[in-house]
Amino acid sequence: MASIFSIKKKSSKTTRELHIPEHIAFIMDGNGRWAKSRSMPREYGHSKGADVFRDIIRYCGELGVKHITVYAFSTENWKRPENEVNAIMKLLAKFMDEAFADLEKEKVRVIFLGSKEPFSAELRERMEKLERDSSVYERILNVAFNYGGRDEIVHACNELIKEGVTTITPELISSHLYTRLSPDPDLIVRTAGEYRISNFLMWQSAYSEFYFTDKLWPDMTHEDVDAAIAAYSGRERRYGGVVEKKEDAKS
Ligand code: FPP
Repeated sequence: MASIFSIKKKSSKTTRELHIPEHIAFIMDGNGRWAKSRSMPREYGHSKGADVFRDIIRYCGELGVKHITVYAFSTENWKRPENEVNAIMKLLAKFMDEAFADLEKEKVRVIFLGSKEPFSAELRERMEKLERDSSVYERILNVAFNYGGRDEIVHACNELIKEGVTTITPELISSHLYTRLSPDPDLIVRTAGEYRISNFLMWQSAYSEFYFTDKLWPDMTHEDVDAAIAAYSGRERRYGGVVEKKEDAKS
C-alpha cells in the first residue's frame, strides 16, 4: 500500500498531500542526447547519469519509497559500441564501491536483476557480495543490469520446470521473477520523451501507472520526482474493476 506523505514545497511554501508509491521504477533514458548536446562523448552522459541516479535514489528514500528499480543496462545494450559498454561496466564497479562504503549509512538492500553470467568472475563475485552484505536491510534497490523483461519471464518458467512444477500460475511466475522481493511497481517513470516499455518489467507493469517526461535523465531533479509523484497521486487505480463514486452510490 502506498503511504501518504506531505512535502513542503520549497518554491510555493504550500504543503501538498502526496501518495508516495511503495515502488517506483525508472527508465533512465537520454544520457546520450544529453552528452551530444554538449558536444561530449556518450560516456560523459552515462557518468553524469550515474551521479543523478545516486541522488534520485537517495531522494526517493527520503520520501519514503520502499522499493526502487532502475533500468541501468538491458540485454540489448551489449550491441552498443565497445567503449560505451566498457564505460557502463566501470560505472557499475564505481556504484558498487560506493554502495559498499555507504552500506550502513544508506541501509538499502541491493538486488541485481538479470543473469550475471556474461560478467567477469570478479564483477560477478562483487555483485553477489553486495547482494549478500546488504541483505539485512528492508528498503530495496533493484538494479536491472543485463536485464530483459521477456528473458526474466522465460527464466522464471525454466526455474519452475526445474522444480518439477506442472501447472504454472501467475503467483508462481511472480515468485520466481528477479523482482520477487518487491511488489509490482506502482509508478514507472521514463525520461527523454520516449513512450515505450523497452522490455522493462513486462510482467510486473500490468497495473503500473506511467509517467513520461521530456527531461533527459541527467537533468532529472527532485522537483521532477515530485511532479511524477504528484501526477501519480491524482490517478485513480481501478485494476480492471470499478470504483464507485459517492454520487453514484446515492442513486
Ligand atoms: C539510456 O540512455 C541509458 C543507459 C542505457 C544507461 C543508463 C546508465 C546509467 C544511468 C549509469 C549507470 C548506472 C549504474 C547503476 C551502473 P541512452 O544512452 O539510450 O540515451 P539516448 O537515448 O539519448 O542515446
